[in-house]
Amino acid sequence: MLFVIFSCFLWTLISANDLTPIVSISSGPVQGKFVDFNGIKVAHFLGVPYAKPPIKSLRFQSPEKVDPWTEVKSVTNYGASCPQRSEHIKPEETNEDCLFLNVYVTESTFNSSATRKRPVLFWIHGGALTMGSGNEFYPGLPMVPFEDVILVTHNYRLNAFGFMYFGAGEPRIPSNIGLRDQLMAMQWVRENIAKFGGDPNQVTIFGESAGSMSVSAHILSPLTKGLFKRAILESGTIYNPVDDPSFFIGNAWSVLNRTSCASSHDILTCLQGLSVPEIIDNQSDGLLRFRWVYGDDFLPFTVNEAFDQDLYDDSVDLLVGTEKNEFSIFMAKLDAKLFNPVDPSPTDYQTALGYLALTFKQESLDYFRELYFGPPTSDSAFLRSQLEKAYSDTALLCPTYMFGLKFAKDGQQSGKVFGYYRTQKAKSTMFPPCDASSWMGTCHAGEIPFVFGFPFLDPNATQSERDLSSQVMKFGLILLNSVNLQCWWTEWKTLNSDDQR
Ligand SMILES: *[C@@H]1O[C@H](CO)[C@@H](O)[C@H](O)[C@H]1NC(C)=O
Ligand SMILES: *[C@@H]1O[C@H](CO)[C@@H](O)[C@H](O)[C@H]1NC(C)=O
Ligand SMILES: *[C@@H]1O[C@H](CO)[C@@H](O)[C@H](O)[C@H]1NC(C)=O
Ligand SMILES: *[C@@H]1O[C@H](CO)[C@@H](O)[C@H](O)[C@H]1NC(C)=O
Repeated sequence: MLFVIFSCFLWTLISANDLTPIVSISSGPVQGKFVDFNGIKVAHFLGVPYAKPPIKSLRFQSPEKVDPWTEVKSVTNYGASCPQRSEHIKPEETNEDCLFLNVYVTESTFNSSATRKRPVLFWIHGGALTMGSGNEFYPGLPMVPFEDVILVTHNYRLNAFGFMYFGAGEPRIPSNIGLRDQLMAMQWVRENIAKFGGDPNQVTIFGESAGSMSVSAHILSPLTKGLFKRAILESGTIYNPVDDPSFFIGNAWSVLNRTSCASSHDILTCLQGLSVPEIIDNQSDGLLRFRWVYGDDFLPFTVNEAFDQDLYDDSVDLLVGTEKNEFSIFMAKLDAKLFNPVDPSPTDYQTALGYLALTFKQESLDYFRELYFGPPTSDSAFLRSQLEKAYSDTALLCPTYMFGLKFAKDGQQSGKVFGYYRTQKAKSTMFPPCDASSWMGTCHAGEIPFVFGFPFLDPNATQSERDLSSQVMKFGLILLNSVNLQCWWTEWKTLNSDDQR
């Protein structure tokens, strides 16, 4: 197979060379660059603006269509990431003018765009809607030349910039701004991707963590209808039992109260005049502190309303899945010693029970204690591992699979639903503490290196990692081609209500 032959020498053979032909997209002409990958030229169109810069009077407003240009725009470098505080992205790499997308396509697909259209993969990055970007962390190599798909990644507004919401307290600030950015990038794909050789009717949207939550929001939104045919949820959905808008509205007020706009009578205008650091530094870095709100035109219904009353587009095909130890990387926030990645301290039954009680209601605690712990034990490693399991189930595993099950409910929908459960620990992940840990297992985001084909760029990767990556890279294509997964790989199967536990 292709990947076996390539795997011994791939990593030496990526080099940038010449510019692409000029492409006239709806907003004006752009010119990207070719990057050579083992003899295959892959066009990179990087930092393409898909909306007006969301600055000044457009801050805290829905995205607007980009102003057209006439001179050829060079799109050979990534655009700025959106404002955030993060270990991986330096403040100088961010800018409020951040609504850019990236397109990766092989030269042969690009050349034959007039006669042959290829499937499109549209990635929504994770980062708790607080941080991250669609730039170099999610590159088109080696996935795009391996599978001859078109990959589109993008940046959307994050944290307060993307999700600050005051409800009726400031009705001029709309809800779900960051999700509306994603929607505008999808509309860009619909409008322009054919010029790159992509088929606008064969779009799969996929995302991880907050990106996966976003994917589930688009599945439910009436505004995205028709923009994609298939969707992949990697570890996360907006299906959450607690969705109290007053919590998010309270967050918005507490940010506001810490800034110099606290006593302003014109909240919107005052906030639009603040410096970026004044907003970033005065907001909480807490995960998902800013997020989606129901009841607007983008998300008119809660997940339960949408599923119970059939108010969703059930024609899309879905793949939903999780990692075995989803929550392990977040456990240290609960107790930095007990859940230390490399040198965890021991626990006892009573302490462990206390942590279990934090995530389950008092009236159901006996049931869950029995389920996760069984009879009292002093086996510290067991208790740690069962706590991780309980938190992983409640935070990510159950919501993700429940979304798939609810979507599939009676088997009457026209789209198919598939599930996966990944257990192979990646040698190197997005979270290095996980790699060095003996108890953290198959961590959150652990599938990303496989999805993007990183084992093929790492000379130290094992053959089994490359094999898994090759299979995972194909999973998008399998959905794209509607092949029956059960025949192809026995561990993948369609979800039905028998799987509900
Ligand atoms: C694409 O078209 C250009 C210009 O006609 C040509 O030079 C190049 O060899 C073609 N590449 C492929 C892979 O077909
Ligand atoms: C913000 O300040 C207002 C006015 O002083 C006050 O009523 C409100 O309780 C504060 N809200 C938060 C969340 O701090
Ligand atoms: C946070 O807001 C206060 C005004 O209430 C301001 O003095 C301070 O500079 C802000 N923080 C930053 C880092 O801008
Ligand atoms: C591969 O492993 C060797 C030996 O452990 C190490 O020195 C080298 O940096 C690794 N290479 C990469 C690309 O990770």
